Amino acid sequence: MPRWWHSIDLGHGVVTPGVKSQEQLEDEWSTLHLHDHLKGQTVLDIGAWDGWFSFNCERAGAERVTALDHYVWSIDIVKLWESQASQETRVLDFQNIPGVWRPDSLPGKRGFDLAKRALGSKVETVVDDFMEMDLDAFGKFDVVLYLGVLYHMHHPLLALERVRKVTKELPASSHKHSRFRIGPIGRYANS
Ligand SMILES: C[S@@+](CC[C@H](N)C(=O)[O-])C[C@H]1O[C@@H](n2cnc3c(N)ncnc32)[C@H](O)[C@@H]1O
Repeated sequence: MPRWWHSIDLGHGVVTPGVKSQEQLEDEWSTLHLHDHLKGQTVLDIGAWDGWFSFNCERAGAERVTALDHYVWSIDIVKLWESQASQETRVLDFQNIPGVWRPDSLPGKRGFDLAKRALGSKVETVVDDFMEMDLDAFGKFDVVLYLGVLYHMHHPLLALERVRKVTKELPASSHKHSRFRIGPIGRYANS
């Protein structure tokens, strides 16, 4: 695997070499205070990347977990780095770099798929752009994770409206600060 975002314990002493350490992930997880509230719940993890939070929700007893992502899963990160090393390409232009944007083969999803297999996980995946997809047909989830995604959005309020639309009970979001901070963003009434 070229690059991992999450340090995932795959068992037998193997931990994926993620940019986010196990300690950081556990710290973020504990700040969410979700662990004891997931039994029998349905969970949507928007922007799941390698899936650490999805797998942890499953381990905590969630009945059904759906990992949704699009951008990172569609990128060939090795080609992106090669391209950026050879020319001054802005990261935002990656969709126009030949060979980098691969929604047909999803090279950035290989880490998630590998971890899912190694863990024997039943987490389901949806490959789609959360800001563009048809949410009416998508349904609602008891708990929705929106971790490390909001600050990437051009239209953050619209993004939160869309998170509300798919949430029955509790949305949890995080934003970037001097370090990652994380926490529930509130409960919405069923209206
Ligand atoms: C900084 S990463 C956060 C990964 C993980 N949630 C975490 O907290 O460690 C942001 C993720 O959001 C995904 N993302 C950004 N915009 C998205 C969108 N419109 N629809 C689906 N996924 C999106 C990216 O592909 C990326 O995997």
